[in-house]
Amino acid sequence: MEVKKIVPFRFANNTALCLSPEFILPEEKRPCLCDVSSMHSVPIIDLKGYDECEHGLVQKISEVSQQWGMFQVINHGVSPDLCRGVLAALLEFFQLPPEERSIFFTKDHSEPVKILNYYFNGSDQKKVAMWSETFTHPWHPTEDFKHYLPTNPPQYRDVFAAYAKEVGTLMNRLLSLMSQGLGLEEGSLVRRLGANPNFYSHANYYPPCPEPELTMGLNEHNDITALTILQLNGVPGLQVEYDGKWVPVDPVPDAFVIIVADQIQVLSNGRYKSPAHRAVTNRWLSRLSLAMFYAPNDEVVIGPMEELTDEELPPIYRNYRHKEYMEEFYRQQGKRRRVKEAFEL
Ligand code: OGA
Ligand code: NI
Repeated sequence: MEVKKIVPFRFANNTALCLSPEFILPEEKRPCLCDVSSMHSVPIIDLKGYDECEHGLVQKISEVSQQWGMFQVINHGVSPDLCRGVLAALLEFFQLPPEERSIFFTKDHSEPVKILNYYFNGSDQKKVAMWSETFTHPWHPTEDFKHYLPTNPPQYRDVFAAYAKEVGTLMNRLLSLMSQGLGLEEGSLVRRLGANPNFYSHANYYPPCPEPELTMGLNEHNDITALTILQLNGVPGLQVEYDGKWVPVDPVPDAFVIIVADQIQVLSNGRYKSPAHRAVTNRWLSRLSLAMFYAPNDEVVIGPMEELTDEELPPIYRNYRHKEYMEEFYRQQGKRRRVKEAFEL
C-alpha cells in the first residue's frame, strides 16, 4: 500500500508560514472577529423548492439580490461527486511541494493561468500580505485552456472540465432568473453582458494561522465581475457586509454561495447589490474555496439597462467599456476597492 506522507503546507512563493511582520495588519484594518452580527444570516434558496411556482423562485432571487447581493443555493443541479472531486484535486494541488506550484508564477497580468498573492496597501503605502494563496485559470471554453492546466494531480484537468460544464449550466439558469427578477425577458442579462464573456476561476487556499486577529485571508472587496459561484470546503471564514456589519456565512453542505458582482449592479442600475465581503483566517483548519466568475469581454459597453431607467429612475452610472473598468481596478488595487464609484454619475 502506498503511504502518502503529509507534509506541512508551504506557500509557493516560499514565504515562511509564520507570523512575520509582512502579514500583520495595521490596527484599524484588523478583522475584530468578535464584532460580527448574529442578528442576520445569508438567505438559503432551494432551487428545487419552487417546482410548481417558478414565479415564486424569481421573486425570491430578486428580493435577496436586492437586499443582500449574496445567497446560498441548495439542490442546484451540480453533482455532489463533482463538487467534492474538484475540491479534492485542488487540495492535492495546494499540497504539492512549492517548487511544483511555483511554475505557475508570472508577473504578466494577461497570463490566464497563474498563482496570485494578494496584498493590502495601507495609506502609508506599506504592503501587507494576505494569509492565502490563489490559483487562477479560465474555466470555459474547455478546449481552449485544458492543456495549460496542472497535470499533477493527474485527474485535475478532467474533473475541472466536468465541473465547469455543470457550473456553466447553473450560471445560465441564475442569470435567467435574475433577468426575470428585474422584470425583463430571461436572456436579457446574458445578452447585455455580451459576446465572448471571460470565464475564469480563483481557487483560494487559506492555511491555519497562528494569529487570526492580526491577519486577513482575503481583504474586503467587491467582486468586479458579473456573477460568482463560490464553493466552500465547509470551514467558516467568509463574511459579508450587511447593514453596516460583518455577517459570517455559515457553510451549508453541498451548497454554493452566489455573489452578485459589480457589472450586474451597474446593469441593474443599482437594484441588485454587489456586496463587500472578505475571508478571515482561523487557528486550526485549512480553508479551500473555489470561485467561478462570469465577466464581460473587455470591449463590451456596460451601463444601466435602458429598460430599467426613465425620468423617475435616471441612470446612476455612466456607460463604459469594460476595459476601462479593469484599468480603474488595477489603479485602485490593494486599496479598499470601490471601483464602481468611479463610474457614478
Ligand atoms: C473571492 C472570494 C471568498 C472565500 O475569491 O472573490 O471572495 O471565502 N473568496 O474564499
Ligand atoms: Ni470575492
